[in-house]
Amino acid sequence: MKILFLNGSPRKNSYTVAIMKCIEKAIDLKHTVEWIHAYDLNIKPCRSCLKCRPDRICVLSKDDGHDVWHKIRSADAVVIGSPTYFGNMSGPLKTLIDRNLTAFEKMGSSGLEKPIPLHKGKKAAVVTACNSPFPISQLINQGEGTLQAVETVVKAGGFSVVGSIILDGAGFRKGIPLEIQEQAKVIGVNIQS
Ligand SMILES: Cc1cc2nc3c(=O)[nH]c(=O)nc-3n(C[C@H](O)[C@H](O)[C@H](O)COP(=O)(O)O)c2cc1C
Repeated sequence: MKILFLNGSPRKNSYTVAIMKCIEKAIDLKHTVEWIHAYDLNIKPCRSCLKCRPDRICVLSKDDGHDVWHKIRSADAVVIGSPTYFGNMSGPLKTLIDRNLTAFEKMGSSGLEKPIPLHKGKKAAVVTACNSPFPISQLINQGEGTLQAVETVVKAGGFSVVGSIILDGAGFRKGIPLEIQEQAKVIGVNIQS
Protein backbone atom coordinates (compact mmCIF):
# COMPACT_ATOMS: atom_id res chain seq x y z
CA MET A 1 0.00 0.00 0.00
CA LYS A 2 1.00 3.62 -0.57
CA ILE A 3 0.00 5.70 2.46
CA LEU A 4 0.16 9.45 2.00
CA PHE A 5 0.72 11.74 5.00
CA LEU A 6 -0.45 15.29 4.23
CA ASN A 7 0.76 17.74 6.86
CA GLY A 8 -0.82 21.19 7.11
CA SER A 9 1.25 22.44 10.05
CA PRO A 10 4.20 24.79 9.49
CA ARG A 11 5.78 23.39 12.69
CA LYS A 12 7.37 20.04 11.92
CA ASN A 13 8.30 19.49 15.57
CA SER A 14 4.93 20.33 16.99
CA TYR A 15 1.75 18.51 17.97
CA THR A 16 0.03 17.73 14.68
CA VAL A 17 3.15 16.16 13.17
CA ALA A 18 4.00 14.33 16.41
CA ILE A 19 0.60 12.59 16.39
CA MET A 20 0.93 11.79 12.69
CA LYS A 21 4.32 10.23 13.45
CA CYS A 22 2.69 8.03 16.12
CA ILE A 23 0.33 6.78 13.40
CA GLU A 24 3.25 6.22 11.03
CA LYS A 25 5.13 4.20 13.68
CA ALA A 26 2.33 1.61 13.73
CA ILE A 27 2.47 1.08 9.97
CA ASP A 28 4.25 -2.05 8.79
CA LEU A 29 7.48 -1.42 6.88
CA LYS A 30 6.16 -3.41 3.90
CA HIS A 31 3.98 -0.37 3.08
CA THR A 32 5.27 2.80 1.44
CA VAL A 33 4.77 5.99 3.42
CA GLU A 34 5.18 9.38 1.78
CA TRP A 35 4.96 12.77 3.51
CA ILE A 36 3.84 16.02 1.91
CA HIS A 37 4.35 19.20 3.94
CA ALA A 38 1.95 21.83 2.60
CA TYR A 39 4.11 24.73 3.87
CA ASP A 40 7.14 23.48 1.89
CA LEU A 41 5.33 23.68 -1.43
CA ASN A 42 4.82 26.34 -4.03
CA ILE A 43 1.11 26.10 -4.91
CA LYS A 44 -0.89 28.91 -6.43
CA PRO A 45 -4.51 29.17 -5.25
CA CYS A 46 -7.35 27.67 -7.29
CA ARG A 47 -8.96 30.30 -9.57
CA SER A 48 -12.30 28.50 -9.71
CA CYS A 49 -12.33 28.22 -13.52
CA LEU A 50 -13.36 24.56 -13.07
CA LYS A 51 -11.60 23.65 -16.32
CA CYS A 52 -10.01 20.82 -14.32
CA ARG A 53 -13.39 19.07 -14.27
CA PRO A 54 -13.42 18.22 -18.00
CA ASP A 55 -9.67 18.55 -18.66
CA ARG A 56 -8.48 16.52 -15.62
CA ILE A 57 -5.54 18.93 -15.31
CA CYS A 58 -5.20 22.38 -13.76
CA VAL A 59 -4.79 25.22 -16.29
CA LEU A 60 -2.42 27.19 -14.04
CA SER A 61 1.27 27.19 -14.95
CA LYS A 62 3.14 24.21 -13.55
CA ASP A 63 3.78 24.27 -9.83
CA ASP A 64 3.85 21.75 -6.97
CA GLY A 65 0.04 21.47 -7.07
CA HIS A 66 0.30 19.39 -10.26
CA ASP A 67 2.70 16.90 -8.62
CA VAL A 68 0.51 16.56 -5.54
CA TRP A 69 -2.45 15.64 -7.80
CA HIS A 70 -0.69 12.42 -8.86
CA LYS A 71 0.28 11.58 -5.28
CA ILE A 72 -3.27 11.93 -3.99
CA ARG A 73 -4.71 10.07 -6.97
CA SER A 74 -2.37 7.09 -6.51
CA ALA A 75 -2.54 6.90 -2.70
CA ASP A 76 -4.15 3.79 -1.19
CA ALA A 77 -4.81 5.61 2.09
CA VAL A 78 -4.33 9.13 3.45
CA VAL A 79 -3.53 10.62 6.84
CA ILE A 80 -4.29 14.35 6.89
CA GLY A 81 -3.15 16.52 9.78
CA SER A 82 -3.70 20.21 10.34
CA PRO A 83 -3.34 22.66 13.19
CA THR A 84 -6.66 24.28 14.10
CA TYR A 85 -6.64 27.85 12.85
CA PHE A 86 -9.93 29.69 13.56
CA GLY A 87 -11.75 26.38 13.77
CA ASN A 88 -10.49 25.18 10.41
CA MET A 89 -7.51 23.70 8.58
CA SER A 90 -4.48 25.87 7.77
CA GLY A 91 -4.49 28.02 4.62
CA PRO A 92 -1.71 26.19 2.72
CA LEU A 93 -3.39 22.82 3.30
CA LYS A 94 -6.71 24.21 2.03
CA THR A 95 -4.96 25.70 -1.02
CA LEU A 96 -3.35 22.34 -1.75
CA ILE A 97 -6.72 20.56 -1.44
CA ASP A 98 -8.68 23.08 -3.54
CA ARG A 99 -6.10 22.81 -6.31
CA ASN A 100 -6.61 19.05 -6.30
CA LEU A 101 -10.38 18.84 -6.52
CA THR A 102 -10.24 16.31 -9.37
CA ALA A 103 -7.83 14.07 -7.47
CA PHE A 104 -10.71 13.42 -5.06
CA GLU A 105 -13.81 13.32 -7.27
CA LYS A 106 -15.01 13.50 -10.88
CA MET A 107 -18.22 14.65 -12.52
CA GLY A 108 -20.76 12.17 -13.85
CA SER A 109 -21.50 12.10 -17.58
CA SER A 110 -24.29 14.70 -17.57
CA GLY A 111 -22.45 17.01 -15.20
CA LEU A 112 -25.66 17.47 -13.21
CA GLU A 113 -25.46 14.57 -10.79
CA LYS A 114 -23.46 14.37 -7.57
CA PRO A 115 -19.70 14.14 -8.20
CA ILE A 116 -18.33 10.59 -8.21
CA PRO A 117 -15.79 9.84 -5.46
CA LEU A 118 -12.53 8.38 -6.80
CA HIS A 119 -11.25 6.60 -3.69
CA LYS A 120 -14.10 4.28 -2.69
CA GLY A 121 -12.89 1.42 -0.48
CA LYS A 122 -9.84 3.35 0.74
CA LYS A 123 -9.20 4.56 4.28
CA ALA A 124 -8.34 7.94 5.78
CA ALA A 125 -7.49 9.40 9.16
CA VAL A 126 -7.61 13.00 10.34
CA VAL A 127 -5.59 14.74 13.06
CA THR A 128 -5.66 18.21 14.56
CA ALA A 129 -4.13 20.09 17.46
CA CYS A 130 -5.68 23.15 19.06
CA ASN A 131 -5.10 25.33 22.09
CA SER A 132 -8.64 25.33 23.39
CA PRO A 133 -9.12 22.83 26.21
CA PHE A 134 -11.72 20.05 26.39
CA PRO A 135 -14.74 20.38 26.10
CA ILE A 136 -14.43 23.71 24.23
CA SER A 137 -12.19 21.94 21.69
CA GLN A 138 -15.22 19.85 20.68
CA LEU A 139 -17.08 22.92 19.42
CA ILE A 140 -17.47 23.42 15.72
CA ASN A 141 -15.40 26.62 15.76
CA GLN A 142 -12.44 24.85 17.45
CA GLY A 143 -10.73 21.45 16.86
CA GLU A 144 -14.00 19.83 15.87
CA GLY A 145 -14.41 22.38 13.07
CA THR A 146 -11.05 21.35 11.63
CA LEU A 147 -11.93 17.65 11.77
CA GLN A 148 -15.24 18.30 10.05
CA ALA A 149 -13.65 20.45 7.34
CA VAL A 150 -10.99 17.83 6.53
CA GLU A 151 -13.48 14.97 6.79
CA THR A 152 -15.71 16.76 4.26
CA VAL A 153 -12.82 16.56 1.78
CA VAL A 154 -11.90 12.92 2.35
CA LYS A 155 -15.54 11.82 2.33
CA ALA A 156 -16.08 13.65 -0.97
CA GLY A 157 -13.23 11.46 -2.23
CA GLY A 158 -15.01 8.34 -0.99
CA PHE A 159 -12.46 7.51 1.72
CA SER A 160 -13.87 6.03 4.91
CA VAL A 161 -12.54 7.70 8.04
CA VAL A 162 -11.03 5.02 10.30
CA GLY A 163 -10.15 7.48 13.04
CA SER A 164 -9.76 11.10 13.94
CA ILE A 165 -7.89 12.77 16.76
CA ILE A 166 -8.13 16.19 18.41
CA LEU A 167 -5.26 17.08 20.71
CA ASP A 168 -6.74 19.84 22.84
CA GLY A 169 -5.05 22.30 25.19
CA ALA A 170 -1.90 22.07 23.08
CA GLY A 171 -0.44 25.28 24.49
CA PHE A 172 -0.32 23.78 27.98
CA ARG A 173 1.10 20.36 27.15
CA LYS A 174 4.65 19.05 27.34
CA GLY A 175 4.17 16.24 24.83
CA ILE A 176 1.63 13.84 23.37
CA PRO A 177 -0.44 12.19 26.16
CA LEU A 178 -0.33 8.41 26.31
CA GLU A 179 -4.01 7.99 25.47
CA ILE A 180 -3.56 10.01 22.27
CA GLN A 181 -0.47 7.93 21.41
CA GLU A 182 -2.61 4.82 21.88
CA GLN A 183 -5.41 6.20 19.67
CA ALA A 184 -2.83 7.02 17.00
CA LYS A 185 -1.39 3.51 17.18
CA VAL A 186 -4.85 1.96 16.67
CA ILE A 187 -5.42 4.22 13.66
CA GLY A 188 -2.03 3.19 12.23
CA VAL A 189 -2.92 -0.47 12.60
CA ASN A 190 -6.40 -0.03 11.10
CA ILE A 191 -5.45 2.13 8.15
CA GLN A 192 -3.14 -0.49 6.67
CA SER A 193 -5.57 -3.43 6.90
C1 LIG B 1 -3.61 31.74 13.11
C2 LIG B 1 -3.92 30.83 14.29
C3 LIG B 1 -5.24 30.54 14.58
C4 LIG B 1 -5.56 29.70 15.65
N1 LIG B 1 -6.86 29.40 15.90
C5 LIG B 1 -7.17 28.56 16.91
C6 LIG B 1 -8.53 28.22 17.18
O1 LIG B 1 -9.45 28.64 16.50
N2 LIG B 1 -8.78 27.40 18.24
C7 LIG B 1 -7.78 26.88 19.00
O2 LIG B 1 -8.07 26.14 19.94
N3 LIG B 1 -6.46 27.14 18.75
C8 LIG B 1 -6.14 27.97 17.73
N4 LIG B 1 -4.82 28.24 17.45
C9 LIG B 1 -3.76 27.53 18.20
C10 LIG B 1 -3.22 26.32 17.43
O3 LIG B 1 -4.27 25.47 17.04
C11 LIG B 1 -2.21 25.54 18.28
O4 LIG B 1 -1.06 26.35 18.43
C12 LIG B 1 -1.81 24.19 17.73
O5 LIG B 1 -0.93 23.57 18.61
C13 LIG B 1 -1.14 24.30 16.37
O6 LIG B 1 -0.81 23.00 15.88
P1 LIG B 1 0.74 22.53 15.78
O7 LIG B 1 1.21 22.46 17.19
O8 LIG B 1 0.70 21.21 15.14
O9 LIG B 1 1.45 23.54 14.95
C14 LIG B 1 -4.50 29.11 16.42
C15 LIG B 1 -3.16 29.41 16.09
C16 LIG B 1 -2.87 30.25 15.03
C17 LIG B 1 -1.42 30.53 14.69
